[in-house]
Amino acid sequence: MLATENLMVFYENALGLNDLTMEVRPGQMVGVIGSNCAGKTTLMNTMSGLILDMRLKERRKGGERITVFGRVLFEGEDISQVMPYERARMGVVLARERHPVFPDSSVTENLKIAGYLRPWKEVRAGMERSFDLFPNLARWKRRKAGFLSGGEQQMLAITMALMVGPKVLLLDEPLLGLSPAMQNLLVGVIRQISAEAGVTLVIAEQFARPLLPLLDYTYVIENGMLTLTGPGPELMKNPEIKSAYFGV
Ligand SMILES: Nc1ncnc2c1ncn2[C@@H]1O[C@H](COP(=O)(O)OP(=O)(O)OP(=O)(O)O)[C@@H](O)[C@H]1O
Ligand SMILES: [Mg+2]
Repeated sequence: MLATENLMVFYENALGLNDLTMEVRPGQMVGVIGSNCAGKTTLMNTMSGLILDMRLKERRKGGERITVFGRVLFEGEDISQVMPYERARMGVVLARERHPVFPDSSVTENLKIAGYLRPWKEVRAGMERSFDLFPNLARWKRRKAGFLSGGEQQMLAITMALMVGPKVLLLDEPLLGLSPAMQNLLVGVIRQISAEAGVTLVIAEQFARPLLPLLDYTYVIENGMLTLTGPGPELMKNPEIKSAYFGV
């Protein structure tokens, strides 16, 4: 459904991704596990097309050169040159790292902004679904997003991505900085998004432990390179992986 072929990304002369080939099948929940600077965000940005936007901006201001080699395929089509907003329209949607939301707008306004590509009826239905998924957000409908807790902002960011209507949803470190209780809540919601809404998921995380039982397939990356792949439970048996990423 979503695949990369021999992706190489350079920031000036520094390597962000190194010959990365991976595949996500329809309905799967796929994990991308790696420590700081492993290349997780670079991969998510390349799959969502955000990197094209970053490249343009850097070029305009005469900043560093971003170079991308290799291909991104969605439903068999080469989308490597498709801009991120077009990819979103096609159903490839990214919820970025550290939950950027519009802090001065209310929860409801944030959701409306996220749904701007869709007809009003669908936006209203989407909002109701969001409030079912996250009852906390329903309580704070009129509150400015900037006044929500980190966990609540993360929930809002994920529901904003859902409002776009993803076929495949890319989540960049959704559990980052959350308390264990909040992490469990979020993992439950991620399971619902996968099982009930039938959305295909790619989730980048540094510490994947609470997610691992849910993952159909896992890619471990280091220095922009794949070092290990396999179903979650199998990786869990590898002692090196266990101590490096899962804290056991
Ligand atoms: N805009 C950029 N300009 C220059 N180098 C970058 C840029 N973005 C990322 N890099 C470099 O590319 C490599 C991969 O970074 P990336 O942000 O993709 O890692 P990550 O796995 O998401 O890390 P983290 O867990 O900290 O979010 C790092 O060495 C980083 O310094
Ligand atoms: Mg990152």
